[in-house]
This record gives sequence, C-alpha cells and structure tokens, in this order.
Amino acid sequence: MVLSKTFSESDVSVHSTFASPYVRNSAPRLTIPNNSMPKDVAFQIINDELMLDGNPRLNLASFVTTWMEPECDRLIMDSINKNYVDMDEYPITTELQNRCVNMIANLFNAPLGDSDAAVGVGTVGSSEAIMLAGLAFKRKWQNKRKAEGKPYDKPNIVMGANMQVCWEKFARYFEVELKEVKVREGYYVMDPVQAVEMVDENTICVAAILGSTYNGEFEDVKLLNDLLVEKNKESGWDTPIHVDAASGGFIAPFLYPELEWDFRLPLVKSINVSGHKYGLVYAGIGWAIWRRKEDLAEELIFYINYLGANQPTFTLNFSKGSSQIIAQYYQLIRLGYEGYRNVMQNCHDNAMVLKEGVEKTGRFRIVSKDMGVPVVAFSLKDRSRHDEFKVSEMLRRFGWIVPAYPMPEGAKHVLVLRVVIREDFSRTLADRLVVDIVKVMGELDSSVPIPPIPKKSEKMVRLENGQKKRSGKKTGEVTTKREIGAYWGNITTGTKIKLAANLGGPSVNVIA
Ligand SMILES: Cc1ncc(COP(=O)(O)O)c(C=O)c1O
Repeated sequence: MVLSKTFSESDVSVHSTFASPYVRNSAPRLTIPNNSMPKDVAFQIINDELMLDGNPRLNLASFVTTWMEPECDRLIMDSINKNYVDMDEYPITTELQNRCVNMIANLFNAPLGDSDAAVGVGTVGSSEAIMLAGLAFKRKWQNKRKAEGKPYDKPNIVMGANMQVCWEKFARYFEVELKEVKVREGYYVMDPVQAVEMVDENTICVAAILGSTYNGEFEDVKLLNDLLVEKNKESGWDTPIHVDAASGGFIAPFLYPELEWDFRLPLVKSINVSGHKYGLVYAGIGWAIWRRKEDLAEELIFYINYLGANQPTFTLNFSKGSSQIIAQYYQLIRLGYEGYRNVMQNCHDNAMVLKEGVEKTGRFRIVSKDMGVPVVAFSLKDRSRHDEFKVSEMLRRFGWIVPAYPMPEGAKHVLVLRVVIREDFSRTLADRLVVDIVKVMGELDSSVPIPPIPKKSEKMVRLENGQKKRSGKKTGEVTTKREIGAYWGNITTGTKIKLAANLGGPSVNVIA
C-alpha cells in the first residue's frame, strides 16, 4: 500500500525557507500570534531581523564587554539555567560570588584582617550597585538625624554634572536632591573644592567618579577626601564619600596602583564597579563593595543561612542569572593581576595610537586625558561647515559606531566624539579607524558647498509646463538643499542623541 501525505502549513517551511507562509508575512509585532510556527522558521525570522543591529565589536560607544574566551562562553552557556537567588540549591555559585566580592574588596584595599569577610554584593550592573550604596547612605544619615532629633526629610548628594544617568534615577526614585557641580570648558569633571563648598548638613555623601562617562577622566578623590576631612572637623558633620568606579575600578588598580582613590582614603565608605565593563564580562554584572559592615544600614540587609554561615543579601531584584558571576570568577582567576594589567596596558596603548592618529589629522582637539579610562574623546577644531554629529553619521557608513554628544551642564556648547577602547579593539582596528576618519573628513570637505538660503518670498516653484518661477508665497515644502540638509540634520541628530543614550552613553544631559 502506498501512503500518501498532504503537507500541512507547518511542513511548507521544510521545502522552502523564504517562501513559506510564515516568512511571506511580516513578523508579528503587537499581539501574540494565534498559531505556533516551526522552530527553525522562528529562528530564521528573528535571526534575519537581528542582522540589522550594529556589529557589537564595532560599537565604540559602549564600555560593555563584547568578547570573551570560548572557554568562558561555555561556562556561561552551561550555567544559563541557574537562578542565582536559589542559594541553597547552587551553593557553589554563591561561594564563587563571595570569592569575587573578597577579591575585588582586596583589590580596592578594603581594611580587612586575614580572617575578615569582605562586605559586598554582585548586582546587575553599576546602576543597581549605586542604588544600593545610595540607599545605605540615605538610611544611615536618616538614622543619625533621627537620633539627634533633627529633620531628615531633605537628603542631598553632591556630585559632578558629568554623572551617569543612573544617579539621576537614584535621586528621582529614592527622593534625594542632586546638587550638581557644573563643569567648565577645559575641565569636564567635578572640582573637589566646589563640591566640598556645596556640602551641608543634609548631604548624605559626595560621589566621585573614577572615569567620567563623558571623557574617561578620573576625578581627584584624594583631594576630595582631604578637603572633606577638614570640613567634617569644622562642621561636626560626618559626610562620607562614594566612588563610582564603574569603569575605572578595573583600570586604576592595574595601571596606577599608587593612585589613592579607594578604601585607602578614610572617608570612602563604598565603591561600585561594573564587572561587565573593564571587569571583562558580558553585560549583566556589577559589584557594590562597602568598607565595613557598619557602613551598611543593618535594616537594609536580609540574611540567608547558607552552609552554616550567615549570608547577607542586599539587592533590588530577587531572581537573576548565575552566568555572569561565574564568568567574573573565571576572568579573575584566569587572568590574575598579571593578565588584567596586560589587557589594561594594551587598551591604554591602543588609545594612545588612536589619539595620536586623530591629532595628526589636524582637525580635532583631544578632550580626554592620557591617564584615565582608555577612551579617546575629541572635538572638531572648526565646526563652521560640519559638526560632530555629521562625522559620527558618516563613520557609521564604514560600520563604526562612534557617538557624538554635548558635554554636561557648564560646557554644553562643547560637542565631542568618543571612542571607548575595549580589550577586543586591536591595533589594526585603531589604525583602520584613523584611516576612515581621514576619509570622512576628506568627503566632508569635498561635499557640495551649501547654497545661500533664498528669501521665503522668493521660493522657486515648478510650473506645469516644467519651467520654474519665483513664488511670492510660502509653499510649505522643503525646497532648498540647505533646508533639506537642516531637515535631515534635525532628524538624524535626534536619532544620534537617542542612540547614544540607548548605548549606555552619557544620556543624562543629552536627552534634555
Ligand atoms: C560612571 C558610570 N557610572 C555608572 C554607569 C552605569 O553602569 P551600568 O551600565 O553598569 O549600570 C556608567 C555606565 O556607563 C558609568 O560610566
């Protein structure tokens, strides 16, 4: 007997990937489809749409790791199904997190005795770590004020206007006033003298940034500490310091071990660092480290009994993946101090190559510093014909994603382009980028000169017979080259600003 089979809709994909009914229609957007589709079709549809994303390795806007060793990729995939919060079920993962906390606390010179456990926690990123540290300061300050019988309803934080958006989020979500120290042209970070002047009895902490998001520059935490020690003595307040070392926390200990910015300074009570930036792990891991247990408000800690020890937990979210913690532990033991130093030195060297190449074009002014996070930030010397947004847009054609944005409050008129040098940005790519920047500048120089704008009353209109005539009234259409340029300029500028924000760039002051 011969068995015949009629193909159902779902079988069609087997015969024709791109002509199957599933792929002939647009992918579902707003409502969940009524029917299932074959798994290979679902894969194909999503995979194809994702091709339109930028290439992460060429995304020079982001500080976040885009390459790890295949061995670590395997560890990540093997633990992708573990929920970190199930500490009893996955005690080894918890143990690995604790080891990371201790290693990082020691790297930051926490004053720990041989048998002391460090106080800290793995988070989703620096943003969560900053929320936790900020909450601890707020609660400690409130408790002190309550005990003194003083008002405790107007807490504030003092920090530079160059803060990352997560600080604005913290301030708004947890009702703390942000007192911003404005930057100025040529000095794009918090001035410690001005910061200390702004401290008052309601200041829960001064936050210093080790590696400004805008230009990578380190703030002077040592000077801040010394000035604040004096002010605390005079005022009787006890204002502490938090260091936002999102990027610099994994750079300074390896490249500038003598630089005092961490727990060596007595007023530094907590530090955050992003494991997924120069900690060299894919997106999804940050660390909050406290100087001592007393620097965390007791009522914010929840204790979980784990392997006979009291495990303090203090995070905003309950569930989270284990992979990134395991990956962080891999990097710490795989690279060790020597390996991290090599990687950071190489990033720094590549940043210098790029900086020199950009300088040699003669067209840009460098606004980043040699000492700091390895980023190269640069501004056009002459912006009369094209601005930084245009250069950014043109570089995109070569595949490079280089954001352009204005500097923060106090220097908003300064626009910069910024390239973040990550581990996987090789010397060849640095050289290539310089070549492409030169090409872009050449193209911009030889682009058609912009014609003068005709008076509105003199707009040209095309008649039915094809001839042109001056029109006395406004047509409402975009007719001249300059208008078209301005029109698209507005659109693309808005897009770029949003793009920079989405890429974890300095969106705080960019999206006004
Ligand atoms: C100085 C600074 N703080 C905080 C953050 C937020 O870090 P995360 O993306 O890890 O939440 C960033 C991110 O770029 C940053 O540069």
